[in-house]
Amino acid sequence: MLKIVRARDYQDMSRKAANIISAQIILKPDCVLGLATGTTPIGTYKQLIEWYEKGDLDFAKVSTYNLDEYRGLSHDDPQSYHYFMRENLFNHVNIDLANTHVPDGSNPDAEAACSEYDKIVAAAGYPDLQLLGIGNNGHIGFNEPDDHFSKGTHCVDLTESTIKANSRLFEHEEDVPRQAYTMGTQTIMYARMILVVANGEAKAQAVHDMCFGPVTPSCPASILQLHPNVVVVADEAALSLCE
Ligand code: PGA
Repeated sequence: MLKIVRARDYQDMSRKAANIISAQIILKPDCVLGLATGTTPIGTYKQLIEWYEKGDLDFAKVSTYNLDEYRGLSHDDPQSYHYFMRENLFNHVNIDLANTHVPDGSNPDAEAACSEYDKIVAAAGYPDLQLLGIGNNGHIGFNEPDDHFSKGTHCVDLTESTIKANSRLFEHEEDVPRQAYTMGTQTIMYARMILVVANGEAKAQAVHDMCFGPVTPSCPASILQLHPNVVVVADEAALSLCE
């Protein structure tokens, strides 16, 4: 079911993914985009910025909903996903910041923060296109391996594997927040189209299990096999177990 697009390397993956997002914006200038943070999509955002600067893309009517945010970080914390999105995309294109949304990690009331986010994503009609990275352990957003698939936005305890993987971006491993608010798996599945980007050998097992493994909450990304419109753009290393 999943459509796999092979890319030569990170650069090629980024350009192909940006092409797909750019087509979405051209076809529907007021589209709703679901966006992701992490190292993988940075090149995709760079490419979109470049095309915006050339005059090929217009974000004026686009609205965005991010997948997740660390709990306990203020919007201006350089480690927050609010900050990441401004740095890596929003500050460089003509998007109206009022149309950009990220779960409010600064709200300590998890229930209120999550139900508020669910309401605004639902009111927007869910993303036309959802961009996703994938964790080494098969997580999407911060939906970690579990014994059930999650539904709406909720507060999660990050797994040791995710804390370790994300600690590369923090000075000390202890600095990585232990909890996050994330869109649930069900909400992700409501997107009309899902675009997964993956590169590097560390993702090979997760990419294989997402595409060809059993559909199981122990690999949250495997549920994407049940979605009618998923494109996986991955480089050779990430696809090395998918021969
Ligand atoms: P990464 O994260 O792009 O930094 O590898 C992906 C993810 O954990 O979803």
